[in-house]
Amino acid sequence: MKEGFSVFNNVIVRRPCRAMVEGITSNPQLGKPDYEKALLQHDSYIAALKECGVAVTVLPADERYPDSCFVEDPAVITRKCAIITNPGAASRNGEKDEILPAIRKFFTEDQIEYIKSPGTLEGGDVMMVGDHFYVGRSARTNEEGIRQFIAILEKHGLSGSEVTLEEVLHLKTGVNYLENGNMLVSGEFVHKPEFTQYNRVEIPEEEAYAANCIWVNDTVIVPEGYPAVEKAVRSLGYKVILVDTSEFRKLDGGLSCLSLRF
Ligand code: GLY
Repeated sequence: MKEGFSVFNNVIVRRPCRAMVEGITSNPQLGKPDYEKALLQHDSYIAALKECGVAVTVLPADERYPDSCFVEDPAVITRKCAIITNPGAASRNGEKDEILPAIRKFFTEDQIEYIKSPGTLEGGDVMMVGDHFYVGRSARTNEEGIRQFIAILEKHGLSGSEVTLEEVLHLKTGVNYLENGNMLVSGEFVHKPEFTQYNRVEIPEEEAYAANCIWVNDTVIVPEGYPAVEKAVRSLGYKVILVDTSEFRKLDGGLSCLSLRF
Protein backbone atom coordinates (compact mmCIF):
# COMPACT_ATOMS: atom_id res chain seq x y z
CA MET A 1 0.00 0.00 0.00
CA LYS A 2 1.46 3.34 -0.93
CA GLU A 3 2.37 5.97 1.67
CA GLY A 4 0.20 6.11 4.82
CA PHE A 5 1.59 5.08 8.18
CA SER A 6 4.02 2.17 7.88
CA VAL A 7 4.22 2.12 11.64
CA PHE A 8 2.27 3.69 14.49
CA ASN A 9 4.34 5.35 17.19
CA ASN A 10 1.60 6.90 19.30
CA VAL A 11 -1.84 6.14 20.59
CA ILE A 12 -4.25 8.36 22.52
CA VAL A 13 -6.90 6.81 24.76
CA ARG A 14 -9.28 8.22 27.37
CA ARG A 15 -10.23 6.38 30.53
CA PRO A 16 -13.89 5.38 30.74
CA CYS A 17 -15.95 7.54 33.12
CA ARG A 18 -18.54 6.33 35.63
CA ALA A 19 -21.20 8.08 33.51
CA MET A 20 -20.51 5.55 30.75
CA VAL A 21 -23.50 3.62 32.04
CA GLU A 22 -25.57 6.39 30.45
CA GLY A 23 -23.76 6.15 27.12
CA ILE A 24 -25.59 5.88 23.81
CA THR A 25 -26.56 2.38 22.81
CA SER A 26 -28.59 0.64 20.14
CA ASN A 27 -28.32 -2.58 22.14
CA PRO A 28 -30.03 -1.92 25.50
CA GLN A 29 -30.85 -5.62 25.73
CA LEU A 30 -27.14 -6.25 26.47
CA GLY A 31 -27.56 -4.36 29.75
CA LYS A 32 -25.59 -1.48 31.26
CA PRO A 33 -21.80 -1.65 31.27
CA ASP A 34 -20.14 -2.75 34.52
CA TYR A 35 -17.85 0.20 35.20
CA GLU A 36 -15.20 -1.68 37.22
CA LYS A 37 -15.05 -4.38 34.57
CA ALA A 38 -14.77 -1.74 31.86
CA LEU A 39 -11.77 -0.23 33.65
CA LEU A 40 -10.05 -3.63 33.77
CA GLN A 41 -10.78 -4.19 30.09
CA HIS A 42 -9.40 -0.75 29.34
CA ASP A 43 -6.23 -1.64 31.28
CA SER A 44 -5.86 -4.74 29.09
CA TYR A 45 -6.42 -2.66 25.97
CA ILE A 46 -3.63 -0.26 26.96
CA ALA A 47 -1.32 -3.19 27.77
CA ALA A 48 -2.03 -4.73 24.36
CA LEU A 49 -1.23 -1.46 22.61
CA LYS A 50 2.04 -1.13 24.50
CA GLU A 51 2.93 -4.67 23.46
CA CYS A 52 2.60 -3.42 19.86
CA GLY A 53 5.37 -0.89 20.49
CA VAL A 54 3.45 2.36 20.73
CA ALA A 55 3.63 5.09 23.37
CA VAL A 56 0.18 5.46 24.93
CA THR A 57 -1.12 8.84 26.08
CA VAL A 58 -3.86 8.19 28.62
CA LEU A 59 -6.32 11.07 29.04
CA PRO A 60 -8.35 11.28 32.26
CA ALA A 61 -11.99 10.22 32.46
CA ASP A 62 -14.41 13.01 31.62
CA GLU A 63 -17.70 12.58 33.48
CA ARG A 64 -19.44 15.23 31.35
CA TYR A 65 -19.37 12.93 28.34
CA PRO A 66 -20.59 9.35 28.92
CA ASP A 67 -19.16 8.13 25.59
CA SER A 68 -15.85 9.97 25.83
CA CYS A 69 -13.72 6.82 26.12
CA PHE A 70 -14.53 6.35 22.41
CA VAL A 71 -11.81 8.80 21.56
CA GLU A 72 -11.68 7.83 17.90
CA ASP A 73 -14.79 9.87 17.10
CA PRO A 74 -13.80 13.48 17.90
CA ALA A 75 -10.60 13.44 15.81
CA VAL A 76 -9.04 11.80 12.76
CA ILE A 77 -5.26 11.65 12.49
CA THR A 78 -3.48 11.29 9.16
CA ARG A 79 0.24 11.30 8.49
CA LYS A 80 -0.06 14.90 7.26
CA CYS A 81 -2.62 16.51 9.57
CA ALA A 82 -5.06 16.03 12.42
CA ILE A 83 -8.72 16.79 11.83
CA ILE A 84 -10.94 17.75 14.73
CA THR A 85 -14.36 16.43 13.81
CA ASN A 86 -17.82 17.71 14.64
CA PRO A 87 -19.56 14.69 16.18
CA GLY A 88 -23.12 14.26 14.99
CA ALA A 89 -24.39 12.88 18.29
CA ALA A 90 -25.46 15.93 20.34
CA SER A 91 -24.36 14.41 23.65
CA ARG A 92 -20.88 13.81 22.18
CA ASN A 93 -20.33 17.04 20.29
CA GLY A 94 -18.37 18.73 23.11
CA GLU A 95 -15.80 15.91 23.06
CA LYS A 96 -14.15 17.69 20.12
CA ASP A 97 -13.02 20.53 22.41
CA GLU A 98 -11.64 18.10 24.99
CA ILE A 99 -9.50 16.14 22.53
CA LEU A 100 -7.87 19.27 21.12
CA PRO A 101 -5.25 19.82 23.87
CA ALA A 102 -4.00 16.26 23.40
CA ILE A 103 -3.80 16.75 19.63
CA ARG A 104 -1.85 19.99 20.14
CA LYS A 105 0.87 18.03 21.93
CA PHE A 106 1.64 16.26 18.65
CA PHE A 107 0.62 18.71 15.90
CA THR A 108 1.29 22.37 15.18
CA GLU A 109 -1.63 24.74 14.53
CA ASP A 110 -1.09 24.63 10.76
CA GLN A 111 -1.41 20.85 10.90
CA ILE A 112 -4.76 20.93 12.73
CA GLU A 113 -7.97 21.23 10.71
CA TYR A 114 -11.63 21.41 11.76
CA ILE A 115 -14.95 20.12 10.46
CA LYS A 116 -17.43 22.95 10.90
CA SER A 117 -21.24 23.04 11.25
CA PRO A 118 -23.45 22.31 9.42
CA GLY A 119 -20.95 19.59 8.57
CA THR A 120 -20.85 16.67 11.00
CA LEU A 121 -18.39 13.82 11.05
CA GLU A 122 -17.27 11.14 13.51
CA GLY A 123 -13.95 9.32 13.28
CA GLY A 124 -15.65 5.93 13.50
CA ASP A 125 -16.90 6.65 9.99
CA VAL A 126 -13.37 7.07 8.61
CA MET A 127 -11.28 4.12 7.44
CA MET A 128 -7.68 4.79 6.43
CA VAL A 129 -6.18 2.75 3.61
CA GLY A 130 -2.73 4.15 2.97
CA ASP A 131 -3.26 7.78 2.01
CA HIS A 132 -6.88 7.21 0.99
CA PHE A 133 -9.72 7.61 3.46
CA TYR A 134 -13.12 5.97 3.05
CA VAL A 135 -15.83 7.96 4.80
CA GLY A 136 -19.17 6.48 5.78
CA ARG A 137 -22.24 8.64 5.30
CA SER A 138 -24.17 7.68 8.39
CA ALA A 139 -26.61 9.05 10.94
CA ARG A 140 -23.59 10.82 12.53
CA THR A 141 -21.61 11.93 9.45
CA ASN A 142 -23.40 14.05 6.86
CA GLU A 143 -22.77 15.05 3.25
CA GLU A 144 -21.37 18.46 4.19
CA GLY A 145 -19.02 16.91 6.77
CA ILE A 146 -17.72 14.54 4.12
CA ARG A 147 -17.31 17.38 1.62
CA GLN A 148 -15.23 19.38 4.12
CA PHE A 149 -13.24 16.31 5.14
CA ILE A 150 -12.29 15.40 1.57
CA ALA A 151 -11.34 19.03 0.84
CA ILE A 152 -9.01 18.99 3.87
CA LEU A 153 -7.48 15.70 2.77
CA GLU A 154 -6.86 17.03 -0.74
CA LYS A 155 -5.28 20.20 0.63
CA HIS A 156 -2.74 17.94 2.35
CA GLY A 157 -2.12 15.70 -0.68
CA LEU A 158 -4.38 12.89 0.54
CA SER A 159 -7.67 11.61 -0.86
CA GLY A 160 -11.07 10.48 0.33
CA SER A 161 -14.31 8.99 -0.95
CA GLU A 162 -17.80 8.46 0.40
CA VAL A 163 -19.32 5.11 1.28
CA THR A 164 -23.02 4.90 2.04
CA LEU A 165 -24.23 2.77 4.90
CA GLU A 166 -27.67 1.92 6.12
CA GLU A 167 -27.46 -0.74 8.80
CA VAL A 168 -24.68 0.03 11.25
CA LEU A 169 -23.65 2.93 13.47
CA HIS A 170 -20.29 3.75 11.91
CA LEU A 171 -18.39 2.60 8.83
CA LYS A 172 -15.84 0.75 10.97
CA THR A 173 -18.58 -1.04 12.84
CA GLY A 174 -18.63 -3.32 9.81
CA VAL A 175 -15.42 -2.96 7.79
CA ASN A 176 -11.80 -2.63 8.88
CA TYR A 177 -8.52 -2.55 6.99
CA LEU A 178 -5.67 -4.67 8.35
CA GLU A 179 -2.98 -3.38 5.96
CA ASN A 180 -1.29 -5.64 3.37
CA GLY A 181 -4.46 -5.51 1.23
CA ASN A 182 -6.48 -7.38 3.87
CA MET A 183 -9.91 -6.15 4.90
CA LEU A 184 -12.45 -7.59 7.34
CA VAL A 185 -15.98 -7.13 5.99
CA SER A 186 -19.36 -7.94 7.50
CA GLY A 187 -23.02 -7.42 6.69
CA GLU A 188 -23.77 -4.63 4.25
CA PHE A 189 -20.07 -4.21 3.39
CA VAL A 190 -19.49 -7.72 2.06
CA HIS A 191 -20.53 -6.80 -1.47
CA LYS A 192 -19.75 -3.07 -1.59
CA PRO A 193 -18.11 -2.39 -4.98
CA GLU A 194 -15.68 0.06 -3.32
CA PHE A 195 -13.95 -2.80 -1.54
CA THR A 196 -13.78 -5.54 -4.16
CA GLN A 197 -10.15 -4.63 -4.94
CA TYR A 198 -9.08 -5.84 -1.48
CA ASN A 199 -8.59 -9.31 -0.03
CA ARG A 200 -11.91 -9.32 1.78
CA VAL A 201 -12.36 -11.67 4.69
CA GLU A 202 -16.07 -12.16 5.29
CA ILE A 203 -17.07 -12.21 8.92
CA PRO A 204 -19.96 -14.56 9.83
CA GLU A 205 -23.08 -12.78 10.99
CA GLU A 206 -22.92 -14.22 14.50
CA GLU A 207 -19.47 -12.67 14.94
CA ALA A 208 -20.19 -9.39 13.14
CA TYR A 209 -19.15 -7.33 16.17
CA ALA A 210 -15.59 -8.61 15.75
CA ALA A 211 -15.25 -7.09 12.27
CA ASN A 212 -13.91 -4.21 14.34
CA CYS A 213 -10.32 -5.35 14.86
CA ILE A 214 -7.30 -3.03 14.78
CA TRP A 215 -3.93 -3.42 13.08
CA VAL A 216 -1.09 -2.01 15.15
CA ASN A 217 2.39 -2.57 13.73
CA ASP A 218 1.73 -6.02 12.23
CA THR A 219 -0.14 -7.23 15.27
CA VAL A 220 -3.92 -7.35 15.09
CA ILE A 221 -5.90 -6.80 18.27
CA VAL A 222 -9.07 -8.90 18.12
CA PRO A 223 -11.99 -8.84 20.55
CA GLU A 224 -12.01 -11.88 22.80
CA GLY A 225 -14.76 -14.43 22.29
CA TYR A 226 -15.02 -14.51 18.49
CA PRO A 227 -13.21 -17.70 17.42
CA ALA A 228 -13.99 -17.53 13.71
CA VAL A 229 -12.58 -14.02 13.45
CA GLU A 230 -9.54 -14.90 15.56
CA LYS A 231 -8.84 -17.90 13.31
CA ALA A 232 -9.31 -15.86 10.13
CA VAL A 233 -6.92 -13.13 11.31
CA ARG A 234 -4.30 -15.66 12.43
CA SER A 235 -4.54 -17.40 9.07
CA LEU A 236 -3.64 -14.10 7.39
CA GLY A 237 -0.31 -14.40 9.22
CA TYR A 238 -0.70 -11.71 11.86
CA LYS A 239 0.27 -11.97 15.48
CA VAL A 240 -2.99 -11.71 17.43
CA ILE A 241 -3.68 -10.20 20.83
CA LEU A 242 -7.12 -10.80 22.30
CA VAL A 243 -8.79 -8.15 24.43
CA ASP A 244 -12.18 -8.54 26.08
CA THR A 245 -14.42 -5.59 25.13
CA SER A 246 -17.76 -6.88 26.43
CA GLU A 247 -18.53 -3.73 28.44
CA PHE A 248 -17.81 -1.41 25.51
CA ARG A 249 -19.91 -3.53 23.18
CA LYS A 250 -22.89 -2.67 25.37
CA LEU A 251 -22.42 0.91 24.10
CA ASP A 252 -21.88 -0.09 20.46
CA GLY A 253 -18.15 0.47 20.99
CA GLY A 254 -15.34 -1.64 19.61
CA LEU A 255 -11.57 -1.79 19.58
CA SER A 256 -11.05 0.96 17.03
CA CYS A 257 -13.40 3.35 18.86
CA LEU A 258 -11.18 3.27 21.97
CA SER A 259 -8.05 4.89 20.47
CA LEU A 260 -6.44 7.28 18.05
CA ARG A 261 -3.46 5.58 16.42
CA PHE A 262 -0.74 7.46 14.55
N1 GLY B 1 -21.93 4.75 22.30
C1 GLY B 1 -21.05 5.16 21.31
C2 GLY B 1 -21.71 6.04 20.35
O1 GLY B 1 -22.90 5.91 20.16
O2 GLY B 1 -21.10 6.90 19.78
